[in-house]
Amino acid sequence: MCGIVGYTGKQECTDILINALSKLEYRGYDSAGIAVFENGCIEVEKSQGRLKNLVDKMDKGHKPVGVCGIGHTRWATHGEPSDVNSHPHGNKRVTIVHNGIIENYNEIKALLVKNGYVFESQTDTETVAKLLDFYYTGEPVDTIIKVIGEIRGSYALGILFADFPDTIFAVRKDSPLIIGKGKGENFIASDVPAILKYTKDYYLLESDEIAVIKPDEITFCDVHKNEIKKELQRADWDEDAAEKGGYAHFMLKEIHEQPTALKTTITPRVMDGMPFLEECGITVSMLEKVKNIFIVACGTAMHAGLVGKYIIERLARVSVTVDIASEFRYRNPIMGEDDLVILISQSGETADTKAVLQMAKERRTTTVSVVNVKGSSIARESDYVIYTHAGPEIAVASTKAYSVQLSVMYLFAFELAFAKGAINEDKVKELTKDLMNVPKVVEDTMNTMEDCQKIASKLVNSTSLLYIGRGLDYALSMEGSLKLKEISYIHSESYAAGELKHGTISLVTSDMPVIAIVTQKDLMEKTISNIKEVKARDGKVIVITQEDIEIDKEAYDYIIKVPAFNDLFMPIISSVVVQFISYYTAVLKGCDPDKPRNLAKSVTVE
Ligand code: M6R
Repeated sequence: MCGIVGYTGKQECTDILINALSKLEYRGYDSAGIAVFENGCIEVEKSQGRLKNLVDKMDKGHKPVGVCGIGHTRWATHGEPSDVNSHPHGNKRVTIVHNGIIENYNEIKALLVKNGYVFESQTDTETVAKLLDFYYTGEPVDTIIKVIGEIRGSYALGILFADFPDTIFAVRKDSPLIIGKGKGENFIASDVPAILKYTKDYYLLESDEIAVIKPDEITFCDVHKNEIKKELQRADWDEDAAEKGGYAHFMLKEIHEQPTALKTTITPRVMDGMPFLEECGITVSMLEKVKNIFIVACGTAMHAGLVGKYIIERLARVSVTVDIASEFRYRNPIMGEDDLVILISQSGETADTKAVLQMAKERRTTTVSVVNVKGSSIARESDYVIYTHAGPEIAVASTKAYSVQLSVMYLFAFELAFAKGAINEDKVKELTKDLMNVPKVVEDTMNTMEDCQKIASKLVNSTSLLYIGRGLDYALSMEGSLKLKEISYIHSESYAAGELKHGTISLVTSDMPVIAIVTQKDLMEKTISNIKEVKARDGKVIVITQEDIEIDKEAYDYIIKVPAFNDLFMPIISSVVVQFISYYTAVLKGCDPDKPRNLAKSVTVE
């Protein structure tokens, strides 16, 4: 959580820092701040709330002028969102920005208080700033090494020492940080989109590595001051891909990018009509031996795993357990060397998912990650990685990352089913061909946009609703429900349609809309019976179904039809509808769909 940036070069840097921070607001927007060397002194400006508040404050007051500085956008963990808790923290000698959590900050604070330090904020970060000051001997790298030897937790730190006015010092452990390399100017950032306007070249800083960044030189060392040589990475996303491109919001843009993202993710993984995961190191002979599969992830990524479970079990007949990472890691799961753990993560930095990866490694269970951000921690540390090629996803609510995660689940299921001899080559080819047609069907499903807008106008005054479905429709209803509540703030729950009558149906009144996903032909009669039970209790039913499915008009109030296609792929196709419904409901309610309250895109805290 939180985004950090830094610039050192020849250009006036305040606007550069602000621009870079604007690309990281998805990581949190409780406050923003910068520290810039102005006439040799560290000048700090910070403000609670979104970056715009900081910009307005500087426009009316003081806007630092200088060519070296650091910046921060915050998702509050320790201490409420406020001016005083905003980063940067420190004093005229040493000032820092921090992404992560310092677990032993109370201990350190006690030591510093004993030594005369006075604390202004409630943050864990302030203890690190003051500890750096406490140990500072005039030699920054030694001081940093001393400090990271004493702090516990996760951190990516950008540090300014007043004695070194053209230099940014950086160090990280378990929170991401890249070092951007320009011409006569260099950068630090929590994520690549922050630097794309200026350079596409960057280094990945590893845990316990220290970077010293000057305008014309970047050096790296370990905690013993041994120099480290690093390979330069090149971003293949361009800046436009991280901009809104004419859409009102990133979320709307990202919904529309799904056909391309799907094509880009699926096409390189198909060869001679068969799924081809060998490019990721995953071979048929490796899959033959897999006993049980655990899919572990958080939020939307976990919902993609639920669809994965249905299709893997149906096609490959291999047992799959899907779990939320924050639960899985604490329930001492039974997994062994013949099992496989699949970790799904858009960011590749989600703390709980990362912790499960470590746990699987300790137990020697093979790990496969499905990740969107190249070079992220989960991607680097897992045994195999299948990258999704969604491009940067900026909106907090995941859309295109979800559909491409699903497409990887299908490819994986087909390859596994083939490896296990559960389906023959002809069947695998038939399914793979259908999968390759999915991007086009998703494109056609964009036509439901206006219908979804109308449905949103019916939902906008609701305070609570239910999403129901059976089988694959139930898996998608979980995602539909999350998407709606996270950005429109309308309470929503997802229920297995057959489970309603075991308690939840008592909630149904004319004020409680029920969105029923009915795309699975083998289960449709049963779900239709369930929605009739809702109608009989005066409930308002909105049905999402396929064009070729006929449903008795008395069973629903409103209906949205997606193009008819193979039922198996309906979660990808119908996801467009649940995304549009959520998006328009949020917009009609006046909520910002890209930056829902209290949330951040990348959740690097546990
Ligand atoms: O980056 P990850 O995919 O690991 O993030 C996991 C969840 O935080 C994420 O999927 C979240 O639920 C979505 N942004 C919600 O739309």
